[in-house]
Amino acid sequence: MIKNHDRVVIRGLKDVTAAETRISFVDPLGALYYSGYNIDDLIGRICYEEVVHLLLYNKLPNKKELDNFRAQLISEMRLPEEIIKSIKSAPLSSHPMEVLRTEVSHLSMYDPDHDDNSERAYQKRAIRLVAKVPTIVAALHGLRKNQKLDAPNEEFGFAENFLCMFRGIPADSEEKDAIDRFMTLHADHGFNASTFAARVTASTNSGMYSAVTSAIGTLKGPLHGGASEKVMYMLDDINTEEEVEDYIQGMLDDQKKIMGFGHRVYKAEDPRTKHLRGIAENLCHRTNTLNLYNLCIRIENVVHEKKRIYPNVDFYAAVTLDALGVPCKFFTPFFASSRIAGWTAHVIEQYKDAVLLRPSSKYVGEYGRPFVSIEKR
Ligand code: CMC
Repeated sequence: MIKNHDRVVIRGLKDVTAAETRISFVDPLGALYYSGYNIDDLIGRICYEEVVHLLLYNKLPNKKELDNFRAQLISEMRLPEEIIKSIKSAPLSSHPMEVLRTEVSHLSMYDPDHDDNSERAYQKRAIRLVAKVPTIVAALHGLRKNQKLDAPNEEFGFAENFLCMFRGIPADSEEKDAIDRFMTLHADHGFNASTFAARVTASTNSGMYSAVTSAIGTLKGPLHGGASEKVMYMLDDINTEEEVEDYIQGMLDDQKKIMGFGHRVYKAEDPRTKHLRGIAENLCHRTNTLNLYNLCIRIENVVHEKKRIYPNVDFYAAVTLDALGVPCKFFTPFFASSRIAGWTAHVIEQYKDAVLLRPSSKYVGEYGRPFVSIEKR
């Protein structure tokens, strides 16, 4: 047993290895692997449903398996009526991530295999969550805009269905491709904070809905998935490319973090950035918002010059989603709607590992304080 005063604190758990995983590898030198495949080899060549299948079953599906898997996912997109009613009752001032966190927790009460803890039931539950999280996001947006929530279309891909249900209008081929790539790039990322939160909850043998609720609460923070929304506020604050230098310098002088930059693991550029940069450029061309894209390029250059740090996944995600017509308060819910694939895969892996995740701490408080009764305090 290590004595308290000998304990070494690893602040922020930097470089601490908490468990083994086969789901994804975040290579500090600037690569990301999903179940052994480099994402650079997957992006644009497989659809999001294939990525979900890969993460959950450690295997890319063949054509027949993919068709069945897609049909299963799409059939699970519908929400219980009680969830729709509950989404309607959320105050308009509530952030979409708060509604998502609440409704995922609420959904657990309507799971048809509620008390089944077999691996098969976990996998069915994972598929249910992968399918229903995007529908909660789409329903919330639709209801707030008095839009009718369309049923998912069995002829469409999964990501396409999500975007169509969210906006209430069909997606063209470039938009379909963009949302599919966006969801693929956000599907998993090692032991990031929200995945770790999900695994800690799962490690107590608490259910998958509890684990995902923990993950959503963690993703919401601006140092994690909440960064993309803040990137949009920064872009709104800067009017022209000429203002970038002073704006960034001002932020750095005030010791403020530039949102969408820096990474705990990557010491080189985040490998997802180049893909999102390309998607953002194409979409901004179409929507005549190249000024925003050019502003991003300028910010990227100035931040790199001044701090030698690179944009992370959240930086170009902001303009990408903006160009797809997604309001900025829904940026993190789009991230969650994709990362649900990784969260559920990790929760199942954690159940198999069957160990409680419970670190120690170093006590630095006082000892032996004399007790004083309430009357004498
Ligand atoms: N703006 C300015 N300086 C930064 C930034 C940034 N965004 N990120 C890192 N640095 C500096 C930091 O000040 C420190 O400099 P120095 O050594 O001079 O003190 C150095 O880089 C190392 O940074 P750190 O804070 O020790 O790194 P960390 O691993 O603790 O933090 C981070 C990682 C992601 C929390 C941080 O980079 C950050 O706050 N970024 C902004 C928020 C953001 O974009 N979050 C998304 C993260 S990636 C995708 C996701 O998870 O959603």
